[in-house]
Amino acid sequence: MPDDSPAAGLVPIATDPTIAEIAAALSEPQKALPARLFYDEAGCALFGRITQLPEYYVTRAEMALLDRHAAEIASHAPYGSVLVEYGASDEAKAVRLLNAEAAHFAAYVPIDIAPAALAAMEGRLHASHPGLTVRPVVADFLLPLALPDAVRGRPAFGFFPGSTIGNFRPPMVVQFLRGVRATLAGTDAPAFVVGTDLRKDPSAMIPAYDDAAGVTAAFNRNILCHVNRLTGADFDPDAFAHRAIWNIHEGRIEMHLQSRAAQTVRLGGRAIAFAAGETIHTEDSYKHTRESFLALATKAGWRSAGFWTDPRGLFGMHLLRG
Ligand code: AVI
Repeated sequence: MPDDSPAAGLVPIATDPTIAEIAAALSEPQKALPARLFYDEAGCALFGRITQLPEYYVTRAEMALLDRHAAEIASHAPYGSVLVEYGASDEAKAVRLLNAEAAHFAAYVPIDIAPAALAAMEGRLHASHPGLTVRPVVADFLLPLALPDAVRGRPAFGFFPGSTIGNFRPPMVVQFLRGVRATLAGTDAPAFVVGTDLRKDPSAMIPAYDDAAGVTAAFNRNILCHVNRLTGADFDPDAFAHRAIWNIHEGRIEMHLQSRAAQTVRLGGRAIAFAAGETIHTEDSYKHTRESFLALATKAGWRSAGFWTDPRGLFGMHLLRG
């Protein structure tokens, strides 16, 4: 019998970075930390609060886009399609497509590294969508993965909302988009819907990453608490100021932690010296134009088949065809 359990298609789960990897990133001329360190339990809770902030327009704009266009987007999925969501920590966005008029999804495959969140989603969807086949895949979606046997052969409609793709550097965007093509390729008429925050005036973008209540600052500093816990380092998070800057050359918001004074931090038997004002680069959030994103998608072998924005033109959603 084919294995159609949630574990089918299981791939190695992204592990925490090693002490050596963290120390190496902190030893570069521009000190840095891997952004995946943001998302420990406290970081996930802080990110949840960020999405509710008045300054953080990104989530609301994407929801407004889905409110307006979900039916049209879903109408591109052939009858009996499987909706494959990358990085699905909850079903809030997927249900907009699943419930849309003219939607005929037979199955939903949420992919995420958090088994508990996926199991909770599966339970909720069984109650709310009894006819829908739900097959969660516990996996790091940046690694090659296979769809569960139970949905193989169905038209696949990939979905990557949230502008998470904005946190990838351009070569990684191309690599990821190629990987998704490979995963969806065996299916009939593969399609991929990707949400991207759009480039706009820095006066609108900067406050979204440097809010008045200091929630994003706490999110940024929490990465140091996580590093301390993982490595036994002795970072004092309050000795670093939160900075959000618009890098016009790269088209991205960068988050940094800026040392308030000269200091030395101990990490894994090493002494890491900071000059006053020196920064640790913690995150990139690329703000693509429609064209800059499509240039990367084209490199990865996709072509544009649709594009929608929210009523205020803040957020964009691309439909790509393989
Ligand atoms: C997860 N990602 C899309 C967020 C963003 O907007 O780049 C992460 C974030 N960082 C600070 N605020 C939100």
